[in-house]
Amino acid sequence: MPIPKSEYLSEVWKDDIFNNKVVFCTGGAGTICSAQVRALVHLGADACILGRNVEKTERMAQDIATARKGARVLGLGAVDVRDAGAMGKAAERCVQELGGIDFVIAGAAGNFLAPIAQLSPNAFKSVMDIDVLGSYNTVKATLPYLLKSAAAHKTDGKTPPKDGTGGRIIFVSATIHYAGAPLQTHVSVAKAGVDALSAAVCIEQGPRGVTSNVIAPGPIAGTEGMERLLKSGEEARKASEANIPSGRWGTVREIADATVYLFGDAGSYVNGEILVVDGGSWHTGMQPGAGFKYPDFLLSDEVVTGVKGVKGEKQSKL
Ligand code: COA
Repeated sequence: MPIPKSEYLSEVWKDDIFNNKVVFCTGGAGTICSAQVRALVHLGADACILGRNVEKTERMAQDIATARKGARVLGLGAVDVRDAGAMGKAAERCVQELGGIDFVIAGAAGNFLAPIAQLSPNAFKSVMDIDVLGSYNTVKATLPYLLKSAAAHKTDGKTPPKDGTGGRIIFVSATIHYAGAPLQTHVSVAKAGVDALSAAVCIEQGPRGVTSNVIAPGPIAGTEGMERLLKSGEEARKASEANIPSGRWGTVREIADATVYLFGDAGSYVNGEILVVDGGSWHTGMQPGAGFKYPDFLLSDEVVTGVKGVKGEKQSKL
């Protein structure tokens, strides 16, 4: 279903800045990543989105394609970022069908709330594997194409690049590891790894023209975590917003705009950076979510409930 442009892109960008460009995005059927890709497609790009769920990924690809007449958006389901072979094949298919890869968004992530006591080694490993190994596999699978695109789209910062920009990667991370957050050990450790990976890509591939940056979204309306908070009632939302310097939750459009900035010519000299888009919220401390008051919840030894996929019965897994 076509979504109004105002929901995923502000008015400040020229419509054709990503003409003839291809974006490859893992986790592309998710709330945030689909908005990022939709914005790039609106501005001229074709896209290949990947996900584990076949139906969801294919449906989202068709939906994103409505953002621009003539857009080509491939939806590759049954691709797990933890599988390096599958990632390599997905990148090859993207290049065969769309002609190359100019931009990469490493967006696939695993997330659930659980204290360490409720977190098995395999649960910890699952999130590490999806976030850290998955992002690494994404880099390995797409780097040859990114290098090619970077070489073809060099910029000196003075004259606008004739054929636009290319050879850029964005990792979607988080802010919870800056100060640490209860119930999010696995995600905090994983996202710290993702940030380090992005910096390493910048250092090693920057001399060949690649830019590698992180976008760290804060509380964004419509995402799984924020929906969970909404279910706890209006009071929970108000309390969450009161803790944010900008006074409100963000929108997926604000993450999409940051993406356009980093991939477009305005972001050409931004490399190895972390762009936090959170209304200043990490500065005032993170809340794990309504109903999990710190430290009372941890001291109560209760199990986290109401979370999709919850497995723990009692805090005895430690
Ligand atoms: N609390 C505690 N442990 C949990 C859990 C929860 N809420 N959900 C899953 N686990 C554990 C499982 O029990 C299992 O550990 P075990 O083998 O010791 O029992 C381990 O995590 C792996 O679970 P499984 O469902 O087999 O893994 P998966 O690879 O299919 O799924 C997850 C990965 C766990 C990250 C799952 O939440 C997921 O698929 N998430 C993707 C969607 C998502 O997170 N979106 C938000 C993006 S920010």
